[in-house]
Amino acid sequence: MSLSKKLALLVFLGIFISTIWVTFFTLPFIDPIINPGFQDMTSLVKFTIIKLIIITILIVTPITLLIWFLLRVYVVKPIEYFNKITKIIATGNLGRKIEYLSNDELGELGQNINTMVKNLSTAFQSMATSLRSEKIKEKELQNANEKLKELDKVKDEFVSIASHELRTPMTAVKGLISMIFEGDFGSLSEELKDPLSDIAVSTDRLIQLVNDMLDTSRIEAGRLKFLLGDFSAGDLASEILSLLKPLTDEKGIVLETQPAAEKIYTDPNKFKQILSNLIGNSIKFTDSGRISVSFRVNGEYLCVCISDTGLGISREDREKLFGKFTQISTTQTGRPKGTGLGLYISREFARKLGGDLWIESSEIGKGSTFVFSSTRSGTAAAKKVGESLQMFVDMEI
Ligand SMILES: Nc1ncnc2c1ncn2[C@@H]1O[C@H](COP(=O)(O)OP(=O)(O)OP(=O)(O)O)[C@@H](O)[C@H]1O
Ligand SMILES: [Mg+2]
Repeated sequence: MSLSKKLALLVFLGIFISTIWVTFFTLPFIDPIINPGFQDMTSLVKFTIIKLIIITILIVTPITLLIWFLLRVYVVKPIEYFNKITKIIATGNLGRKIEYLSNDELGELGQNINTMVKNLSTAFQSMATSLRSEKIKEKELQNANEKLKELDKVKDEFVSIASHELRTPMTAVKGLISMIFEGDFGSLSEELKDPLSDIAVSTDRLIQLVNDMLDTSRIEAGRLKFLLGDFSAGDLASEILSLLKPLTDEKGIVLETQPAAEKIYTDPNKFKQILSNLIGNSIKFTDSGRISVSFRVNGEYLCVCISDTGLGISREDREKLFGKFTQISTTQTGRPKGTGLGLYISREFARKLGGDLWIESSEIGKGSTFVFSSTRSGTAAAKKVGESLQMFVDMEI
């Protein structure tokens, strides 16, 4: 029911009830005095009812209509108008105003609604402006990001091409030097032996550096290639140990290992590279004592532990060593120079192959134990590695 109908009903009921009250409860006591002709109650009641009907038709209805008309003009109409305008505003038309200029509460309500809509519109405008500038900034950031990505790609390509190009002549230099040492170009004079062996060492370092740069750029570009298969961990380790044995002998360090029959699912070259870097580090940072390589099975993984009695690493330095180009400066003096990429590359390799690499223990002056894990052949973990690296296996780069 509309507001106007409700008000009309209320006014009518109000006046009607008052009329009944006056007619039934007041008149019966006055009537005998005004109309003493009535002898019995029945004729008095009949007369009263007829009077009530006449009063209702002649007085109650016109007064109800008048009050309803006034209420409609001064209350209902403005409310209907407010309703209509606020509906338009609710659709988003914030330019629309309430043009009701009376001096009463309704006029004040209209003014308040106008102020509220004006404030809202200002707030929306400033929101829209800041959103627009945010959008512009986002676009600029996106563009900068795209440019950075492109630059990064160019850098990766440059490092990759430069490293490839450098590797070939350096390998040639290395080959030529060993030919000179072997006497392929005639006998070598004593004075030339020292500078030539320095050149050989520097060339080896350069080749190592170039290889590390190539590995790093492949890791970052996600272009590592893998050659996966089942291999005996002990056999792979023996190859590296026999290669590095002369270096430990030279330093008077004991290099010990234990047999390992366990088979692992891995890329043999990457496995050997990890082990070679870890043992190489131990040799570099150990002056006396021993380096031991041991194996332990841990669920689906085989852990290879490399322990040394070397310089050790402080707790604060441990995690940062796995970053690129990180070295502990105090341990470097007098050591063969490195690039600080070995641990980064080794951990990336270990993780890509489904395992991990971490420092298990280390104490300054007492030595360190590095561990890396590989998936054991036939395990679910090995299967998962095989599936996840499928697209990179034998991929040409
Ligand atoms: N066994 C270890 N004992 C003491 N310090 C170590 C040991 N292994 C690594 N470190 C420290 O961690 C640093 C980082 O090692 P990482 O193998 O990444 O680089 P590098 O050996 O210096 O150079 P690269 O391996 O690239 O030729 C080393 O420079 C050294 O300070
Ligand atoms: Mg190293």
